[in-house]
Amino acid sequence: MRTVIKNGHVINAWQRSEADVVVSDGRIEAVIERKGGPGVLAGSSDVVIDATDCLVIPGGVDAHVHMQLDTGTTVSSDTFFTGSVAAACGGTTTILDFAEQRAGGNVLASFERRYAEAESQCVVDWGLHQVLGGVDAQSLVDARSLIEREGVSSIKLFMAYPGRLYSDDGQMLRALQMCSETGMMAMVHAENGLAIDVLIEQAIAAGNTAPAFHALTRPAILEAEAVHRAAVLSRVAGGAPLYIVHVSSSDALAEVRAARRNGTNIFAETCPQYLHLSLEKTLGKGWPEGAGYICSTPLRPEHETHHTDLWNGLREDELAVVSTDHCPFCLREQKLMNGESFDRVPNGIGGVEHRLDLIYQGVVSGEISLERWVEVCATAPSRLFGLDTKGVIGVGFDADIVVYDPAASTTISAATHHMNLDYSAYEGFVLQGGVRTVMSRGDVIVDRGVVSASAGRGKYMRRRVPALLR
Ligand code: URP
Ligand code: ZN
Ligand code: ZN
Repeated sequence: MRTVIKNGHVINAWQRSEADVVVSDGRIEAVIERKGGPGVLAGSSDVVIDATDCLVIPGGVDAHVHMQLDTGTTVSSDTFFTGSVAAACGGTTTILDFAEQRAGGNVLASFERRYAEAESQCVVDWGLHQVLGGVDAQSLVDARSLIEREGVSSIKLFMAYPGRLYSDDGQMLRALQMCSETGMMAMVHAENGLAIDVLIEQAIAAGNTAPAFHALTRPAILEAEAVHRAAVLSRVAGGAPLYIVHVSSSDALAEVRAARRNGTNIFAETCPQYLHLSLEKTLGKGWPEGAGYICSTPLRPEHETHHTDLWNGLREDELAVVSTDHCPFCLREQKLMNGESFDRVPNGIGGVEHRLDLIYQGVVSGEISLERWVEVCATAPSRLFGLDTKGVIGVGFDADIVVYDPAASTTISAATHHMNLDYSAYEGFVLQGGVRTVMSRGDVIVDRGVVSASAGRGKYMRRRVPALLR
């Protein structure tokens, strides 16, 4: 059976065209420009999707999500099923989550556990990065073996969270040397965790426990310092591909920019929350609402330059990718379960459903072009993480396609979203544009809000180590 998506505006990262898209066997068979004519003449057995006045874009790739993440005291509230349904509703057709090895733990076992959790549940295609929470000789050998064994082309390291997932500079260097040798991408949570822990301890001792102190004890300068250090270590390691996750501040962005200029093999992502939310209107609300915005890196002050600089960074390709860092915890049952002190609140914000819409607002306001929107939400994450068949409307690529209606309007509310989350960080946001139809490998899985995807239909994506990245 063929499907023809007719009359739409096809948007790729490098061009837009008036074209019809022919899909068969889960792949894109042809992209045919209409050139003022009628376009593809559909056969009687073809399914036709009319995309008149709509944008036809590659399905989104969210390279940073945490479904059912076990923090030790609770588990993030979206399962791989509910979270992937929410992703699909928002036009994201591939998610990359994490397998997490902790100090003394076995990398391969952690991968197998996580794979088993996701496999039977995901409704969109998915993959896993490998967290190394305890870098040692064995974990590096095992992580390296995952390239061939499981098609895992990225690891994740933490410069924050001492005593849990933290790597010191020596561990960072050894892991980056492995990445330099293999080409694996090193994702790094860049914050100076040791210094932050001192500030947290001092804030608590002074009785400063309100949500805003979460941000105030994680100042932007300690994010920037860690970005700088990671970049230096990547160079010392011989050019390890480095990807800074959740860049939240002007200060950190400046370090990314400087490192890119001096030839460091560095890339960076930001997230919708750092482009749209600020400390005062979120954490500043106090308890209980403020707890809903506790995430790391934290939301930054409104009066500073972060929003403007991050949008500029996206436009200018200093920031390559927008991911969500989707890590939802219900407000009443989870965020506040350990009491009203910012250091006891599980960290994370849910947002996998609204990434495309929230970043599309940058197109509406002129911050970025349509092409750049597609690039940061789909094409660049595919390329950087070795998803060869994703992120492009082109012949031979997977038919992961979103029909996006720029004239629609989306109002975000916990009452209507699909995430398993009892609040929304974006409650009441009225957004221009909206997802109409979502296709995953040729199957329509969402149409006008109706989901028709079964648990486990999503395919595990083996990923390639990308060729020289810069
Ligand atoms: O607050 C966040 N981002 N929680 C998820 C874990 C992480 O650091 O990415
Ligand atoms: Zn992080
Ligand atoms: Zn994260």
